Amino acid sequence: MAEAVFHFPPDFQWGVAVSSHQVEGHNTNNQWWAWEHQEGRIAAGHRSGAACNWWMSAEDDLDRAAAMGLNTVRLSIEWSRVEVSPGRIDLAALDRYRELLQGLRDRGIVPMVTLHHFTNPLWLEEQGGWLNSNAIAYFTRYVEQVVQALGEYTDLWCTINEPNVYASLGYVTGSHPPGIKSLKSAALVLKHMLRAHGAAYDVLHRAQEEARVGLAHNLRLFDPARPSRLLDRAAAWARDLWFNQTTLTALKGGWWLPPLGFGPAFAVRRKLDWIGLNYYTRDMIEYDRHAEEPGLGVTRHPDDAELLDGGYGELYPEGLARALRRIARLGIPIHITENGIPDSDDDQRPAAILLHLHQTWRVLQQNVPVMSYYHWTLVDNFEWNEGWTMPFGLIELDPESQERAPRPSADLYAAIAKSNAITPELIHAYAPQLRSRLLPD
Ligand code: FCB
Repeated sequence: MAEAVFHFPPDFQWGVAVSSHQVEGHNTNNQWWAWEHQEGRIAAGHRSGAACNWWMSAEDDLDRAAAMGLNTVRLSIEWSRVEVSPGRIDLAALDRYRELLQGLRDRGIVPMVTLHHFTNPLWLEEQGGWLNSNAIAYFTRYVEQVVQALGEYTDLWCTINEPNVYASLGYVTGSHPPGIKSLKSAALVLKHMLRAHGAAYDVLHRAQEEARVGLAHNLRLFDPARPSRLLDRAAAWARDLWFNQTTLTALKGGWWLPPLGFGPAFAVRRKLDWIGLNYYTRDMIEYDRHAEEPGLGVTRHPDDAELLDGGYGELYPEGLARALRRIARLGIPIHITENGIPDSDDDQRPAAILLHLHQTWRVLQQNVPVMSYYHWTLVDNFEWNEGWTMPFGLIELDPESQERAPRPSADLYAAIAKSNAITPELIHAYAPQLRSRLLPD
């Protein structure tokens, strides 16, 4: 009998992903800091505060990542630190990023650098944020500064994290700043961000011949709860159009789809060397004429679904394979730029890691070009409007004392990264309940 070891390609990269506001601490000059200080915005009244204290000292966590055998880390540059007011660059902030990136290099870790991860400088927010088309020129000017200053440390750039999530949560549900509920505004914001991505792509390539430039798309799956019902199918389709297809069609076909407009998207066409996939879960959509937006339906979960903590949705690893196959239609290399679950007692995460990586391995067998996997995340961090209530870390953090405690998942993920494989021993040790699902008899 063939040994059931799931090997990854020899050059596969293993990493973790973080973002500036969620880990650095005291990012007082962006719109999230201001938002956190408004009553009722964040679960349990939490605030980012010192976060994971990376601005002062990230080096111990970098040691932890290196000790786990990781060879890449995705982090983001905080625009509000670099460009403190329009056109005014803080050289000391750039120095700190140099130190961080050099620190990664010294540990044999390749950095992937994201240039925008949800946060805007306050001065931009005061001018209307991404509703203002000037944001595109401001962003490219900032990107130019960053690539000049930090280009010697990386050529792997992720322009913008999840424009679709930024637009949806800030401008449709209103759970992120600026807390607006208007699909029309959301569409404009998304379009501006995609155009800014296209412009940043050109800036990065002009500055750095070898630049590899991509964008991270959060691909959430929307399936009809009752596939035989036309209205469920229509609602799932409408959600998918807004959340996924508008972005994917602009990036692949260079074409704007409603509600972003209708017509050629020259500014975005062929402006992508790779695509980042952030995958978390799916929604089963049921038409409901009493819903706030009946045409978009409401989310249900299958009766037999395994649910994640904190109402985060369904554990659905098969969705990662579906999302990878769909995004592969872009015909370019794929990085899994985020995947993980909130789980403070780590009773689901080891199995979730194994199942999602098994799905990744499966699509690699079908020649889908997946280059890397970045687990979200290394250490518990500030989870936006959920505050500290949704711990996604391989390592547990007490934000008060800054004490860290590795969860079993950290050891599991390290073992996978070091052996570049999922072995039967790891399945037996960390998730024996998966034996029949993953291993032959
Ligand atoms: C993603 C965000 C990331 C983190 C994870 C859990 O949508 O990009 O910052 O919040 O969700």
